[in-house]
Amino acid sequence: MNEALRIDVELGPRRYPIWIGAGLLGQPARWRSAIGGRHVLVVSNDVVAALYLDRVVAGLDAGLVVATLVVPDGEAHKTLATSARVFAALAEMKASRDATIIALGGGVIGDMAGFAAACWMRGIAFVQIPTTLLAMVDSSVGGKTAVDLPQGKNLVGAFHQPRAVIVDTDTLATLPERELRAGLAEVVKYGALGDARFFAWLEAHADALLQRDPEALTHAIETSCRSKAGIVARDETEQGERALLNFGHTFGHALETAGGYGALLHGEAIAIGMLLAARLSARLGRAPTADAQRLHALLTRFGLPSALPPGSDAQRLLDLMRLDKKNVSGRLRLILWRGIGQAEIVPDVDEAAVLTMLAEQRGPRAGG
Ligand SMILES: NC(=O)c1ccc[n+]([C@@H]2O[C@H](COP(=O)([O-])OP(=O)(O)OC[C@H]3O[C@@H](n4cnc5c(N)ncnc54)[C@H](O)[C@@H]3O)[C@@H](O)[C@H]2O)c1
Repeated sequence: MNEALRIDVELGPRRYPIWIGAGLLGQPARWRSAIGGRHVLVVSNDVVAALYLDRVVAGLDAGLVVATLVVPDGEAHKTLATSARVFAALAEMKASRDATIIALGGGVIGDMAGFAAACWMRGIAFVQIPTTLLAMVDSSVGGKTAVDLPQGKNLVGAFHQPRAVIVDTDTLATLPERELRAGLAEVVKYGALGDARFFAWLEAHADALLQRDPEALTHAIETSCRSKAGIVARDETEQGERALLNFGHTFGHALETAGGYGALLHGEAIAIGMLLAARLSARLGRAPTADAQRLHALLTRFGLPSALPPGSDAQRLLDLMRLDKKNVSGRLRLILWRGIGQAEIVPDVDEAAVLTMLAEQRGPRAGG
């Protein structure tokens, strides 16, 4: 078997491994113990299934009862209706409480299939096999599962930890360029929120990452997963520190909702959101403007957008931000920063300052 790295998410009896390596899809022996009973339902979408489903199914041993469910691609299908298809498939195969769901795909499949796993018979085992960079470094780790409603993203969900996360870095070879770049936004997030050294490493290795250099990508995935695994182990249900992982997300989610899901990729919205958070921090005198400029430079180098989409309405964005799950008692609670590597939770942000900052950002201007 090829070399593989193992990082554990230390959650006591629910501790689980993240395996990172090349060719892991074809090596289920490494993660076979994550499958409890006999029934296994592999859930994927039509794009990823065409590329990798056969390899996963072929690797599962003959003693298992395996079924597959392939759903249409896209965020538009991260819905209760798609979860209902997972339930129907489980019922069809007479899956019991010891059944396992394998989620093969990006964050959409992982979130939706994970949510279905959380609900079926009040919770069954599931394994994440993330195939986008974003899912490898973020959504597959930590047990947040959800589906969207027309009223907002991720409004219906559950905390439900996977039994294992299998990151086969070979799958990144087929990832579209724009998706790779969107994933890099989440990688930058780990440097921005808590690791200035990693941020500097990303600045130094931006070209290697864009060229999909395997060593550079593996280092970026490993560092990101270590960071997320540590935070999740210390604060599984987001009572405190875990909220830092939402750096840029309150702005980003508002942009995604304002544009209709699908106009901006999640990672692209987060890139703009992180910049807005950095600029607001500077405007409020909490952080140096130079750090916002460094963030802008790195995200731009990764080909990520930095300006609000044309026609963005500052008041509408603020209204959407007020709906964010992180707000407490009607106060705007944002993750801002003191500078690179130092994100912090700010519980009562002045809405007028947010509005002014957003109004200033409209149009295709660049710069920190
Ligand atoms: N649960 C969490 O903690 C968490 C964190 C961040 C984001 N998310 C969620 O993740 C979702 C976004 O995830 P995403 O960016 O992975 O999007 P995605 O799942 O839609 O995947 C992006 C695109 O890439 C395709 N694809 C996936 N793997 C591929 C491969 N190896 N080769 C070729 N094509 C491939 C997919 O079919 C899709 O078209 C959002 O719904 C977001 O809310 C969840």
